Amino acid sequence: MEHALPNRFAMNIHDFQKMKDEGRKISMITCYDYSSARAVADSNIDCILVGDSLAMTMHGYQSTLSATTAMMALHTAAVAKGAPAKFIIGDLPFLSYRKGLKDAMDAVHELMSAGAHAVKLEGVRGHAEIVRHIVDSGVPVMGHLGLTPQSVHGLGGMKVQARTNAAVKVLTSEARQLEDAGCFAIVLECVPPQGARTVTDLLKIPTIGIGAGTHVSGQVLVYQDMLGFNPGFKPKFLRVYANTFEVIRAALDAYDGDVKSGAFPSESESYSDLQSTEQRVTKRTEHPAQNGRGSGITIASEIYH
Ligand code: KIV
Repeated sequence: MEHALPNRFAMNIHDFQKMKDEGRKISMITCYDYSSARAVADSNIDCILVGDSLAMTMHGYQSTLSATTAMMALHTAAVAKGAPAKFIIGDLPFLSYRKGLKDAMDAVHELMSAGAHAVKLEGVRGHAEIVRHIVDSGVPVMGHLGLTPQSVHGLGGMKVQARTNAAVKVLTSEARQLEDAGCFAIVLECVPPQGARTVTDLLKIPTIGIGAGTHVSGQVLVYQDMLGFNPGFKPKFLRVYANTFEVIRAALDAYDGDVKSGAFPSESESYSDLQSTEQRVTKRTEHPAQNGRGSGITIASEIYH
């Protein structure tokens, strides 16, 4: 199995802390596949979360409960190939860290072997010791509090959390436990800004918000949501930066129209026959200095062009 090495271009856990300390915001985006990862790799985004939201965005399930460790590892490996110079956090899926230490460590092992540089897990009640063990094993852990989608049924739905003083107290205490257990950062999901600020000010480690206002150390959004792949999905916190669904649909319809009208492919998008290809090759190889390549390479490249 291949294990990702720290990359000199990627940020590392110390950079997360440094950015909070220096008041610089951290940008994180979810990503699940090789092609999208190449776009993220080419952007200024600081880090990638291979979130268990992939159960919904990539596999069409209703919730994140259907994500498995095998799924998470497969997508993590694809993202790691597309964005080898980004810091990648892999989500530990539903119940994978609630069945005892061995199962939790097996899941951590799979994600790290697939190319993650850190793992993320939800909540802390009942698994603070497991967080500590993962951290002590040399694997950075990101926490996740507030709306924790793996507990959707326990929470009675995808609801905003920490809306009362008492709930903010619980949130703060849980955030402290995660920090004490060694987490290097914590995602705060769907928490009103006052609660998120309380936690962020209290902790030394950074907080990454999604639906948690601006008083956090950074932000994360789901790739498909911020790129408008999901036109009907409009939670209050979401900003859509591109209407990708519409762009793709229009391109598909344009292609369909061109196929049906015969406008695609054109002559320039069609191969020439073998005879004229050979004539061109012979002409070029008669003047190797002009084409600058050996005849063997010329023939191979002509066949593909
Ligand atoms: O799985 C996910 O995409 C997440 C983010 C929403 C934080 O956990």
